[in-house]
Amino acid sequence: MVIRALAAIAVAVSIVALTVWASVGVRPAEAIPAFARQYDMQCNACHTRPPRLNRFGEQFHMMGFQIPSASRPQGIVGSIKEDGPAKTLIDSLAFRIVGGLFEYSESPRETEVKFEPPHEIELFIARPITPDLSLYVELEYEPKAVKFSRDRGYFETEHEFGLGKEAFFMLNMGRLLGALGAPTMEMGGQTMVGRHGGFTMHGPMLMAGKIDPNTNFSYATNRQMLDATELEIEKEPGEERGEVHRLPVVPYAFASKFFGLFKNRNEREPQLVTDQVMYNTTGAPGADFHAMINDVVLAQVGFLSENEGFNAYGALRYDLLDRRELTFNVSALLNWGFGVVRSPDPEEHERPGGTRLDRLRYGIAANLKWKALDVYGAFIVDHLYGLPGELRSDFDVSAAGLTLEVDYLIHEQVMLSGRVDQLWAGGLKDQKMDATVVSFQAKYYPWQNIAFFVRDSVNLRKFHGDNPLRSWKNQLFVGIDWDF
Ligand code: HEC
Repeated sequence: MVIRALAAIAVAVSIVALTVWASVGVRPAEAIPAFARQYDMQCNACHTRPPRLNRFGEQFHMMGFQIPSASRPQGIVGSIKEDGPAKTLIDSLAFRIVGGLFEYSESPRETEVKFEPPHEIELFIARPITPDLSLYVELEYEPKAVKFSRDRGYFETEHEFGLGKEAFFMLNMGRLLGALGAPTMEMGGQTMVGRHGGFTMHGPMLMAGKIDPNTNFSYATNRQMLDATELEIEKEPGEERGEVHRLPVVPYAFASKFFGLFKNRNEREPQLVTDQVMYNTTGAPGADFHAMINDVVLAQVGFLSENEGFNAYGALRYDLLDRRELTFNVSALLNWGFGVVRSPDPEEHERPGGTRLDRLRYGIAANLKWKALDVYGAFIVDHLYGLPGELRSDFDVSAAGLTLEVDYLIHEQVMLSGRVDQLWAGGLKDQKMDATVVSFQAKYYPWQNIAFFVRDSVNLRKFHGDNPLRSWKNQLFVGIDWDF
């Protein structure tokens, strides 16, 4: 508690200091993230406002973090020669601190106000190594991470440092196709398949490691204006095990959606309804191939490990409109999960049973950007296969989710966002409950790389004290998102 209070004070002091600093207009030349430093560009060249990407930023991402016209044919060796090792290293690093400063939550039984120290500090290492190969590694420090163990149930760790959501390399395999006989072109040391004025293909790009495949989808979950809220756990007096008290508010379209499932047999860890799974994971070991065809179609296939099984997926994205101030794209997804989740025991629902289930996921997403407006949404359906016969009458094997977000840059420094999340839940019929949540947020950017936000989420359904999806009415957060 003392540490938390101190952390909150430390953060509050830094904010005051920063606001003063910002208002007197001092701008630290080096205090900007990796890509901006490497290419000497403003954040807004790639971001509508961080972390959302604009069309240029998305293309930059699809091309493996390279700008062909600005790439160094000698890659990292060239940077070290020209800039020296120290600058090359610094230019490859970025930090992000995200978190709450203060939280207010309301439910009929209790109204809570508490200080919230930043809950996540991330270090990024991002850098093109050669014009065909880039590296992107995220390290993460969480002052209090929620973990699960078979004996203790859910518990909070003191400090958690490790690999973050993503850690991968991206390799352009165009040269390989060229060696196999495909016609190719060269651009800034990068190889592109096709002919000038004819068919062109950028890639195929191999992204392998700990990856987030939906990063190229019309709705990319790692670049949202509204971050997921924290999972809240509690231990009743006299109880041995920690339980989930409140599930986080996340885009329900991409969530697991089923009540009563388990991740694994030995640890008996539940697969929570709001976990971001399959293609929409925040990061899992896998290999992803994507290719951009004629600059308008992005085709993607890949494999992704999950729990005790693995996923195979394919996605297509079509950029229908691409004018300066108007862009529109749609994406479709088909994902089959082989034994990715475990059904409950038919006799005793609190325990994982002997059967692993297959999961089919399919859906669509779209994104429209018009001047200051950025609208994105997705509708995703999940089906489970292989359920034991004894469970059939107690368990609903289909579920769906809908998420729609609107961001509006009302002023150079102010972004307003609203999101609706609708879940039609599946799973154990005596536990499952649908949910509808609306969230609003105002984000103020005194600088391009610092934002303060106020955010409110409202549960539009009836309050249910003992269902963690609906055990709240209103949650208000004040927080900071700071990148340097
Ligand atoms: C040359 C293009 C480019 C520039 C300039 C740029 N970014 Fe980014 N940024 C990206 C790309 C691409 C990603 C997405 C990485 C991913 O999703 O794997 C990203 C991701 C981010 C993220 C999200 C990281 C995460 O996953 O949590 C933040 C925050 C961010 N940028 C902030 C900034 C800020 C602040 C600036 C300016 C100081 C900036 N960026 C400049 C291209 C750029």
